[in-house]
Amino acid sequence: MGATPAVTTERASPRDAGEIAELYLASRAEALPYLRRVHSDDEVRGWITHVRLVSGETWVARKARRILGFLCLDGENLDQLYLLPGQFRRGIGSLLLAKAKERSPERLTLFTFQRNTAARAFYERHGFRLVDLNDGERNEEGEPDALYEWRRSFSGEPL
Ligand SMILES: CC(C)(COP(=O)(O)OP(=O)(O)OC[C@H]1O[C@@H](n2cnc3c(N)ncnc32)[C@H](O)[C@@H]1OP(=O)(O)O)[C@@H](O)C(=O)NCCC(=O)NCCS
Repeated sequence: MGATPAVTTERASPRDAGEIAELYLASRAEALPYLRRVHSDDEVRGWITHVRLVSGETWVARKARRILGFLCLDGENLDQLYLLPGQFRRGIGSLLLAKAKERSPERLTLFTFQRNTAARAFYERHGFRLVDLNDGERNEEGEPDALYEWRRSFSGEPL
């Protein structure tokens, strides 16, 4: 009997693009079924591969070579954080967010949809504060969103 493999965080490589794109599509379908679809699945695959993964930093949470979640960071902006359906609420999001705080130790900002109460609870649990609410004119889905900010100085928490 081998030990249970640990979940590790590591930088994504270009060969992860396909797996990340399928995870993103599945996670959004599961968690955000109400969102207006403005791009086809193939457009999303192309955007992940040729746009999202080639700028900023993408980190994956991996267990036994399978990607369970990913996060994209553009400087202080946490742009994407998605887990595979079936992997929610097991601490994997917290693991990825800890990596984001390690990479941007003073401040992080992010947008989330107002209806995504699970994500909002998750970010608030991790010390993010609501900056403002918007009617949806600043995202392409036209869905009311919320801007959050985290600063290390909010809580004086260690890295
Ligand atoms: C949102 C998400 C990234 C959170 O990651 P996660 O691994 O599920 O969350 P964790 O297990 O690390 O949770 C840490 C804490 O956050 C809070 N939290 C997480 N999910 C929550 C939920 N659904 N409801 C209320 N609080 C929640 C809890 O305080 C939790 O601690 P606890 O489980 O001991 O009570 C993940 O659930 C996900 O990928 N969801 C679908 C995609 C999505 O909405 N992404 C965010 C886009 S902005």
